Amino acid sequence: MTDLLEDADFRGGARGALRPAEVVRLESVRKVYGGSKNAVVALDEVSVGLRQGGFTAVMGPSGSGKSTFLQCAAGLDRPTSGSVVLDGVDLGSLGERELTRLRRERIGFVFQAFNLLPALSVRENVGLPLRLAGRRPDRSAVEEVLERVGLGGRLGSRPGELSGGQQQRVAIARALITRPAVLFGDEPTGALDTATAREVLALLRETVEERGQTVVMVTHDPVAAAHADRVVFLADGRVAGTLERPTVDRVAERMTRLGANGAGR
Ligand SMILES: Nc1ncnc2c1ncn2[C@@H]1O[C@H](COP(=O)(O)OP(=O)(O)O)[C@@H](O)[C@H]1O
Ligand SMILES: [Mg+2]
Repeated sequence: MTDLLEDADFRGGARGALRPAEVVRLESVRKVYGGSKNAVVALDEVSVGLRQGGFTAVMGPSGSGKSTFLQCAAGLDRPTSGSVVLDGVDLGSLGERELTRLRRERIGFVFQAFNLLPALSVRENVGLPLRLAGRRPDRSAVEEVLERVGLGGRLGSRPGELSGGQQQRVAIARALITRPAVLFGDEPTGALDTATAREVLALLRETVEERGQTVVMVTHDPVAAAHADRVVFLADGRVAGTLERPTVDRVAERMTRLGANGAGR
């Protein structure tokens, strides 16, 4: 991983000319839930690399393993077999405490349900990951990240006083405050109306383009996926292809072929 590769990828100008560094690598990942009698294979020999500074969407029919993929990639869950290397660290080599620390310090999460703490102010919610990591939240850093997501004027508000889109922007600010190697989102726009979802997607796009942030987002919405620069398709726990520079039409067409909109599902 050289600076040259990362810089080239950040600027976008040399994208494709050089092979950008991978910030996450899953190799032969299997995830089986349940025991021998009721085993469900959620991920079946998944091997995929995610580029530093890239915006990747993970798509597939319901039950295809998207959430499991994200949880394994982000160290929230451990694969049954195979390996996950994140930010140069083999997650399988870490004990629980080390894994928890890595999640806190190197990974950001955004969920469909914003998961903000209702009793805390916007400022306190965003500073929370730093407190959990034993650090005193730097006021100016918290204010700066809230400014970036367009909520510089709502520092003292409670989540309940904000719209859904604003709450998700607070959640994104909270996920970015530790400067994570990867920002993971599981259906981050799933609870938002179309216009608000677009604002949140534009914000994610902006963090990729302006900050070189790596973003990995699970979605079932072709419009959301078209904001990414690459789509990884899953079907029945396997990688069913990828699409570079996706458009809404091409994503929708692939999803139809995967049976997502068909009568079979
Ligand atoms: N905790 C769990 N216990 C048992 N089965 C699970 C669990 N989580 C997911 N599964 C199963 O694994 C498969 C993949 O699930 P999931 O990753 O949630 O798919 P997606 O997010 O694409 O809808 C599904 O068959 C689901 O029922
Ligand atoms: Mg899911």
